[in-house]
Amino acid sequence: MSNLMAKPVDPATLRADFPILNRRINGRRLVYLDNTATAQKPTEVIEAESRYYRETNANVHRGIHTLSAEATAAYEASRARVARFIGANDPRGIVFTRGTTEGLNLLAHSWGLNLEPGDEIVVTEMEHHSNLVPWFLAAEQRGAVVKHIPITDDGRLDLSSLASLLGPRTKIVALTQVSNALGTVNPVAEIAAAAHRVGALVAVDAAQSAPHLMVDVTELGADAVAFSAHKMLGPTGVGALWVRPELLETMAPYQGGGEMIREVYLDRATYAEIPARFEAGTPNIAGVIAYQAAIDYLDRLDPAALHRHETMLMAYALERMREMGGFRILGPQAAEDRVGALTFADPEIHPHDLSTILDSAGVAIRAGHHCAQPVHRRYGLVATARASFYLYNDRDDVDAFIEALKDARRYFA
Ligand SMILES: Cc1ncc(COP(=O)(O)O)c(C=O)c1O
Repeated sequence: MSNLMAKPVDPATLRADFPILNRRINGRRLVYLDNTATAQKPTEVIEAESRYYRETNANVHRGIHTLSAEATAAYEASRARVARFIGANDPRGIVFTRGTTEGLNLLAHSWGLNLEPGDEIVVTEMEHHSNLVPWFLAAEQRGAVVKHIPITDDGRLDLSSLASLLGPRTKIVALTQVSNALGTVNPVAEIAAAAHRVGALVAVDAAQSAPHLMVDVTELGADAVAFSAHKMLGPTGVGALWVRPELLETMAPYQGGGEMIREVYLDRATYAEIPARFEAGTPNIAGVIAYQAAIDYLDRLDPAALHRHETMLMAYALERMREMGGFRILGPQAAEDRVGALTFADPEIHPHDLSTILDSAGVAIRAGHHCAQPVHRRYGLVATARASFYLYNDRDDVDAFIEALKDARRYFA
C-alpha cells in the first residue's frame, strides 16, 4: 500500500471532492460527523458507479459479448485492487459481500459448520452486534460456547483474562480492530499470536479500521477479515470478506444459486472454485466497480497525514468538550489512543434530544446504542451520542459541533 504519489490531507481541498458537503441542513452548512455509520462519497466514486450503468452494464462471468467481458474485467480488477489494499497477495481470498455483516455471517455459517459440541468461540465485550450474533447462531446450531474478553473501565480489552480464556477447545477468536463505540484500537496481532498458539483461527472485523488505518492481513496475523465499502468512501451494499485462500478452499458454500456451481443435476450439485463458490447470484457489480474508485482515492492520500489529521480533530474535540465540562466520554481518554468515534453522554440530556438539537444546527451525529448494547451495558448506559471524524472534517466542524452542544445545554438548562 505504499504510495509515493501520496497527496497531503488538506480538508479545504478535499471537501470540494464531496458534493454532499455543499448541502444545507435546516438552513445551516452540513457538518457531517456520522462517519462511523457511513462515509460520504467523492465525485469519482459517484461517477464510477453511474459510468458503469451508462457505458458497461452487463452481467459478469456470464456473457461472451463485449459488455459482459468489460464488466467482468472491471469487477475482477476491483477484486485484485481490494486484495492489494489489505496486503493479500492472492485475490482468490476476496469474496465480495453486501458488507461486513454479510461477511461475518458467511464466515460464521460456513466455517462454523466445523464446530463441534463444546467447542469455544472467543469474542470481545466491545463487538458490534454483527460480530456477536452470527457467532451466537453458529454456536446454537453446533452446540458450541461463546466466551468473551472483557473490557476495562477505560474501554480497552482486559488482556489479563486472555490466557485463561484460550485453550484446546478454542476454535476461533473473533474481534474488532477498532471499536465503533469506543474508538479503541485493539492489539490484534498480539491476540492473534496467542490464539494461534492454541490452534485457534482469528477473524477480524475491520469495518472501522479499513477506513482509517493501513490494514495488512499479514501484519494482523488474521485468518479472515471483513469490511464494508460504504465506510471507506465507497458505495453501500458492497463489502469484502478476505479469508486465507487455503482456509476458504475448505469451507462449504454459504448460499446456493447461479455462479457458485460447477455442475448441477436434478438431485445434487458440485461447486465452483473459490471465490466464485461464495458469490451466488448476480452481485452488486456497479458497487464493486465503484469500490475500486474509493480505494484509489484513499490510496492517493498520505496515510500518516490522514492519521495525524484525524487525531488532531479528535484531540481538539476532546479538549473543547472538556472545557465545557460534565460529559462522560467513553473509551480511551487520549486522542492518540482512539480512532474515528468520540462517544459521550451528557448527564442531563438524552442523546436523542442532543442529536435532534444538533441536527437543527446542521450537525449530524449519531444517537443510540450504535449496535453495541453489551458495551453500553458494561458502562451502565442505554444510549450515548457519537461524533465521528473523517478526512473531509476540519476544525470548523468541531467548532460548529461544540457551539451546537452549548445551544443544547442552554435549551435544557
Ligand atoms: C465495528 C463494526 N462492525 C460491523 C459493522 C457492520 O457493518 P455493515 O453494516 O456495513 O455490515 C459496523 C457498522 O457500523 C461496525 O462499526
